Amino acid sequence: MSTERHVTTKEAPPPDSGEGIVHEYDGILEADNHLPRWWLMTLYGAIAFSALYWLGYEAFKALPSPREAYAIEQAKAAAAEAVKLKAMGAASDENLVAMAKNAAAASEGKEVFTKNCVSCHAANGGGGIGPNLTDGAWLHGGKPMQVYATIKDGYVKGGMPAWGALIGEERVRLAAAYVISIKGTNVPGGKAPQGAPEL
Ligand code: HEC
Repeated sequence: MSTERHVTTKEAPPPDSGEGIVHEYDGILEADNHLPRWWLMTLYGAIAFSALYWLGYEAFKALPSPREAYAIEQAKAAAAEAVKLKAMGAASDENLVAMAKNAAAASEGKEVFTKNCVSCHAANGGGGIGPNLTDGAWLHGGKPMQVYATIKDGYVKGGMPAWGALIGEERVRLAAAYVISIKGTNVPGGKAPQGAPEL
């Protein structure tokens, strides 16, 4: 079997001039051709790239993963949008809802809420001295502009301070956006509903 084959190999013209032949076994000629430079460069390039890639993404975590990069982009876009929303003229149902949906504005609103409102409405908005802001029931209305007006002008006799004069209109707007963003989430352990359901 192999005899026949090596005869054929010998008869066939050598793969190159014969100069590169370094090995002959059983009539099989083995050449040691140099790999083309472009091929080697691709290989070394890939090795160098993988080392840098590993250092950047795995060892030092210096570069953001695509997921992180996406989150960073999203946050930047939301922040830019939040600046625009805050600069919009008078508060309206539309721009309050837009703010509530904007991650950056809602998180600024959460800060305002944490600083000023949690003593009476609880950290999660579930209520305490003041009503639960996460249920569907409202003493003074749950529409965006109603929530905004309640926060701005308060119901001082009922125990809700008028925040407009205390923290300024912009922060009232942010707090209203935050309340709108948690409304209807019905946090566990919240205070029993007070008032009427939002129409
Ligand atoms: C000193 C306690 C207190 C603080 C602080 C407080 N609230 Fe209130 N809040 C109340 C009370 C009490 C009521 C209910 C008023 C009433 O019965 O008319 C209320 C009502 C509300 C309502 C209307 C709820 C409804 O059912 O219509 C909203 C909205 C609200 N507060 C938001 C806020 C926000 C936002 C802040 C922070 C900027 C805040 N409150 C800070 C006590 C407080």
